Amino acid sequence: RALLRRLWKGDASARMLHPRLQKAMGAYLRANKHGVNFRGRRAAGRSRAELLCALRGRVRVRTLDGSEPPFSALGWRALVPAVPLGRLLPRGLRTCAVVTSAGAILNSSLGEEIDSHDAVLRFNSAPTRGYEKDVGNKTTVRIINSQILTNPRHHFIDSSLYKDVILVAWDPAPYSANLHLWYKKPDYNLFTPYVQHRQRNPNQPFYILHPKFIWQLWDIIQENTKEKIQPNPPSSGFLGILLMMSLCGEVHVYEYIPSVRQTDLCHYHEPYYDAACTLGAYHPLLYEKLLVQRLNTGAQGDLHRKGKVVLPGLRAVRC
Ligand code: C5P
Repeated sequence: RALLRRLWKGDASARMLHPRLQKAMGAYLRANKHGVNFRGRRAAGRSRAELLCALRGRVRVRTLDGSEPPFSALGWRALVPAVPLGRLLPRGLRTCAVVTSAGAILNSSLGEEIDSHDAVLRFNSAPTRGYEKDVGNKTTVRIINSQILTNPRHHFIDSSLYKDVILVAWDPAPYSANLHLWYKKPDYNLFTPYVQHRQRNPNQPFYILHPKFIWQLWDIIQENTKEKIQPNPPSSGFLGILLMMSLCGEVHVYEYIPSVRQTDLCHYHEPYYDAACTLGAYHPLLYEKLLVQRLNTGAQGDLHRKGKVVLPGLRAVRC
């Protein structure tokens, strides 16, 4: 509870986490499995306006477009969607919802509010069926990690969760963003199922995030954090928030910064309890959330009761 209040104020520290999570973080820092070599400068203490301005200047949503090797030689230019992700949604999207999969969204009755947005982003295997009252039923974009494409448990090929939506997949690549190394040794091999899905469903927009976009967001989190963050990619949640900030006039994020309903329940759709889902072990989730809280323009009451954060779209930011 003390940590939750600090999160709401935007000044929590990893030292406040359960020793088990601190230990896991330490192990990830030592392992540095993606070869992170941070060259940026710490710029802690930026105001909200300065932060937004930095984001507007640097965040460029990028997906694989098939123009770079090894993908160029594999015919990916013709394989990826002809319309880039940044131009797919109408420019006039006023407000968008980002709905995390946190257990705290249960019993929120936020469904109607979520569906009232012009576009709704959801994550991985999070369902709407049976949970409409709390999470709504509209899905415009779904961000999926590479395990969704490769683990048979998720039935990526035939589940309705992955149909009639814009799909955006990602996989942790080396920090160097060396595409050859990544193609040879992805975390989970998403390339084969991606190609197959594109061939079978050429009309469904389906993109893979460029490692440069992912690590650029990591750099921004580290630059604006006093502590050393885990050298692993940001969570899908953070990727989705920044994607929607690039595409929408305003972004309402639900149960990323947890509400008073917060427990260790990982996802609203499965009985699995682990504080790491909300506070992070592999992902620098605590630091992502502190950064997002610093950008929040919503009311404190909405944060406590709805777990809602309101963020301006980056196009509207004046520097
Ligand atoms: O677990 P999964 O990655 O599918 O969840 C989607 C996103 O929702 C996460 O990447 C994370 O940003 C957010 N989340 C959270 N707290 C939870 C569960 C998920 O903030 N308890």
